[in-house]
Amino acid sequence: MKRLCKQNLHNVKPYIPGKPIEEVERELGIKNIIKMASNENPLGTSPGVLRAISDALGSINRYPDADCYYLKKAISEKYSVTSENVFVGNGSDEIFVLALRAFIHPGEEVLVADPTFLMYNIASVAEGAAVCSVPMKNMRYDLEAMAQAITDKTKMIFIANPDNPVGSYVTEDELDKFIDRVPEKVLIILDEAYCEFVDADDYPQAIGLADRSDKNIIITRTFSKAYGLAGLRVGYGIARRDIVEILNKVREPFNVNSIAQVAALAALKDDNHVKKSVSLVWEEKKRFYKFFKELNLEYVPSYTNFILVNTNRNSKKIFREILKRGIIIREMSAWRLDGFIRVTIGLKEENDRFFKAFKEVIEAITG
Ligand SMILES: Cc1ncc(COP(=O)(O)O)c(C=O)c1O
Repeated sequence: MKRLCKQNLHNVKPYIPGKPIEEVERELGIKNIIKMASNENPLGTSPGVLRAISDALGSINRYPDADCYYLKKAISEKYSVTSENVFVGNGSDEIFVLALRAFIHPGEEVLVADPTFLMYNIASVAEGAAVCSVPMKNMRYDLEAMAQAITDKTKMIFIANPDNPVGSYVTEDELDKFIDRVPEKVLIILDEAYCEFVDADDYPQAIGLADRSDKNIIITRTFSKAYGLAGLRVGYGIARRDIVEILNKVREPFNVNSIAQVAALAALKDDNHVKKSVSLVWEEKKRFYKFFKELNLEYVPSYTNFILVNTNRNSKKIFREILKRGIIIREMSAWRLDGFIRVTIGLKEENDRFFKAFKEVIEAITG
């Protein structure tokens, strides 16, 4: 079969997501499992969303609105852009894939940081691009090195701001200086999946960048994190109209399902739920920092809803032991960050359970 598929797929290692709760229940035969592995919103979604979904269920025999008219209108009003500047995707993941599909010619290069969101790499290789990874410096984007890594073949650059799995962010000043050095023929994807969680004055107000005529920029955001809609798969991109028109050529006509559309629309209207979700993360993050400090473990200060920690131990073993105690976290060998784990900030009681389990495991595993 390998002979029959596109040659670039030979090098694609499928994305391995955080383990689903049901799978762990099946495998380990335990109940009451908590998932702190995929940076989801532990508060769930807002009551307004649940009402909107329930009202829309009667129409699922119909195809969805292929144009996402109302959702695009609401997004465009929120950011003072036009609906023609908005593209809605089946998660922001889909927007990355479509952008690569539309813009990459075989042999062109995609520039990413290392470590970063694994999907950039996987989707780029699947679309026939060569990936150039530029190591981070002190767990932050090294934009100087990234600018120097741009070649004639570079076609796209992914910047996750803040980054996953690291949790650090690029400042407005750093971003502006970097963008100035990116040639006009390059498309920049600025992935702001975690922007709602950032508490820093120098974080870029990036939406305005989409308007630039001398640069090609898509800013992507998602309903999967602060809005609590990961299971429905909705993300959006804001870009110049000519870029959006091209993305529209390569998407499936009904790429965003009808329930996702009404849910996202209702979620956008409920600022309070987002505020509540963000406050929970900020409050609980302090407890994580204190906890890791007491254990003398180094963590990366995070501007997201997860924390990357160096356990200085066998992190695969830690992952397995914590899993046995009913808690799913992420061990980081897929990113070649041996010894590291990533944990999503949960509800207060979930975090307490994590602290107890992690301490027990860490004290039992000394190397
Ligand atoms: C940096 C980053 N971008 C994008 C995504 C994907 O978001 P979506 O659920 O909208 O596809 C994630 C999900 O974990 C992420 O960490």
